[in-house]
Amino acid sequence: MADRKPDIKVDVPGLVHMLYNQLTILSVVIILAIMGYTVYITYLDAYYQPEPDQPVAAAAPAMPVSGIVNGVDTETGLIAKGNWEIVRANCTSCHSAKLITQNRQTREGWQGLIVWMQETQGLWDLGDNEDLVLDYLATHYAPEDKGRRAPLKDIEWYVLDLTAAL
Ligand code: HEC
Repeated sequence: MADRKPDIKVDVPGLVHMLYNQLTILSVVIILAIMGYTVYITYLDAYYQPEPDQPVAAAAPAMPVSGIVNGVDTETGLIAKGNWEIVRANCTSCHSAKLITQNRQTREGWQGLIVWMQETQGLWDLGDNEDLVLDYLATHYAPEDKGRRAPLKDIEWYVLDLTAAL
């Protein structure tokens, strides 16, 4: 019993054959992967790249002239004087500056609009800027048409001497 060796047979040619099969499958997978990757970088990747001889910026539309032209800020249309930048900062985030430039108000009128926007439209408290904004608006967007002139006052009336014409 003790000198009996376990009867283990190793099928060497069978093992070699199995290894060989697995190596063949592995190399086919690797070759396919390399081919796939090559196809990807040469065709698909290039498909999404701009043509090298077409500069990307060429398609962008020409930028409009920006800045201050003839005293008017071309971006907002605001008269670029005095405190205009404070007005731009506080008055153009909700609506176009056109609402301002197409409007004419006295200082009181402008203040009324600001109060209305604060009460109903969520305009914030302008703090010290309110006076600066009102200075600007009342100066540059004041009522143009004053209508009839104010009645004359403190006039020294005289009687026309008709005999002088004879
Ligand atoms: C928080 C948002 C907001 C801000 C900031 C704002 N407004 Fe307004 N404003 C509005 C809304 C909303 C209206 C109504 C718009 C409409 O009728 O289409 C309006 C309307 C106006 C109008 C037109 C009023 C009318 O009679 O039709 C003027 C003028 C105006 N705003 C001026 C200003 C000025 C000046 C400032 C800066 C002090 C300012 N807005 C800042 C929200 C705002």
